[in-house]
Amino acid sequence: MEQFDVLVVGSGGAGQRAALEVASREGLRVALITKIFPSRSATAMAQGGINGVLNNVAKEDTIEDHIFDTVKGSDYLGDQDAIEFFVKRCPEGIKELDYFGAPFSRTNENKIAQRNFGGQSYPRTCYSADKTGHVIEHTLYEQCLKHNVQFLQEWYLLDIVKVADGSVGGVVAWNMKEGRVEKIAATAVVIATGGAGRMFWTRTSNPYLSTGDGMAACFRVGCALKDPEMVQFHPTGLGKSGILMSEAVRGEGGYLLNNKGERFMAKYAPSKMELAPRDVVAKAIETEIAEGRGFGGTGLDAYVVADVRHLPRELILEKLHGIRDLAITFEHADPLVQPIPVRPTCHYSMGGIDVKDYKTCATVVPGLFAAGEASCVSIHGANRLGGNSLADAVVFGKVAGEGAIAYVENNSAKDAAKELNDAATAWEAKFKEVTGRTTGRPVSEIRDEMALAMWNKVGIFREESKMKEALETLNKLIEEYKTCYVGDTNRTFNMAFVNYVEIGSLLTVAKAVVLGALRRQESRGSHLREDFTKRDDANFLNHTLISLGEDGEYQVGQSDVVITRFEPKERTY
Ligand code: FUM
Repeated sequence: MEQFDVLVVGSGGAGQRAALEVASREGLRVALITKIFPSRSATAMAQGGINGVLNNVAKEDTIEDHIFDTVKGSDYLGDQDAIEFFVKRCPEGIKELDYFGAPFSRTNENKIAQRNFGGQSYPRTCYSADKTGHVIEHTLYEQCLKHNVQFLQEWYLLDIVKVADGSVGGVVAWNMKEGRVEKIAATAVVIATGGAGRMFWTRTSNPYLSTGDGMAACFRVGCALKDPEMVQFHPTGLGKSGILMSEAVRGEGGYLLNNKGERFMAKYAPSKMELAPRDVVAKAIETEIAEGRGFGGTGLDAYVVADVRHLPRELILEKLHGIRDLAITFEHADPLVQPIPVRPTCHYSMGGIDVKDYKTCATVVPGLFAAGEASCVSIHGANRLGGNSLADAVVFGKVAGEGAIAYVENNSAKDAAKELNDAATAWEAKFKEVTGRTTGRPVSEIRDEMALAMWNKVGIFREESKMKEALETLNKLIEEYKTCYVGDTNRTFNMAFVNYVEIGSLLTVAKAVVLGALRRQESRGSHLREDFTKRDDANFLNHTLISLGEDGEYQVGQSDVVITRFEPKERTY
């Protein structure tokens, strides 16, 4: 059994940035486990850009503006001390990527180019055409290889293991290639496993791998999930598939039109128009569709269109070529000559593993850290600004790396052999038992029923009776899952088994989402209650905390939001 100082789980922007930070420090043993090939994480699908005040395009932009835009964008649910800390570190995070060799698009003065994005006062979103996440992911991978990070790829997190004093001792993982349970001892563990958007399987921009594995594993060892109900619906997923059509489409000057040819955002956000924050634009699109001004009716196939035909052909080919390819491939619509069918799609988990200290990314479990979309610091509150997620990944990935380094410098390795052995033995037995079943409901059916319940009853518009129905469905599915049918007894590359564990994680997190959404009897940011249509600061200017009680039941609690200098105001755009 190998022993590491720091083990990172997840190979997206946050995970690789954390691993790189540790590996850059002389003498520390660091490994990164990932269920996929490292450069294929969800980060690689982020398109439009990464935010930071560099003043390359807008000289007048300030750190203060970025802080305020983020606080206001969050509908005042983001913690203002954490947001300030984050915003101040964004420029450094981006410049580091530039020095590492990330091929950012450039201005005529050869500076990193910056574009407009939703909810921002100035163009501050740095980009590489519309493949920003892809280039960041590859750049970090190169750096990790250069610094000898040990990649354990196609290893899938099963459980985090604690030792007797309650601190972390390592993890057990499923080695997909060899078909066995691996024990990995580590003094510190950084969870950077991304979001859980696949609970909205019906319609999401997330890759198949976004199944909330780290969130569920942390929940089981005592971390709360903070604000899980805050799920971001990106306004412009492709009509049929939900695949991301970057906000860059609108940032570069694209319009949204309804079936009357109207730029309907004039009604909803007259000053920001299509560049209002995502919650505002998503709500506007859904309202247009519900009131009959979409195309294709009002059902699941309905859509509005994004139109870029008025933009110069060269601009589209240079800066939006990725979305052009996607629109042609998946909608048979060439944006050069046709409007693109779009509709909101589940995009991002703004809630996640409760981070107790934003300066280290420490959780409540000693030695356990969380960063990126898996975590909730909280800087995104009820609505994340586009471009703040890649920034979150690199800033808090590095912070988590620093936090883990400080932890191993002050804490010696624990002997976790017994606990790891016990956990591995239990998972080996579980593998045999679940894959050997000959009856039960197929995992895919459980997944599909969960996804439909989540989309139809806990989606963009929410209301108590429907959410209670969704909760009932989830409780039933959680029971059925205990005896479900997996159907493949092979050991090597048994994806049926991996999918089985993934759906278990999604069910765990989905239930937290519904409980959080039921608790929050108000509308704030992306959380739109039809039965409580107003924001209610008197009762809900606080975070939701969903944790696992000793009796195995979900507990619903809350904690204060940190307000430093911006008192909540009505949001208008
Ligand atoms: O629209 C986009 O390009 C997505 C960016 C983000 O989620 O930050």
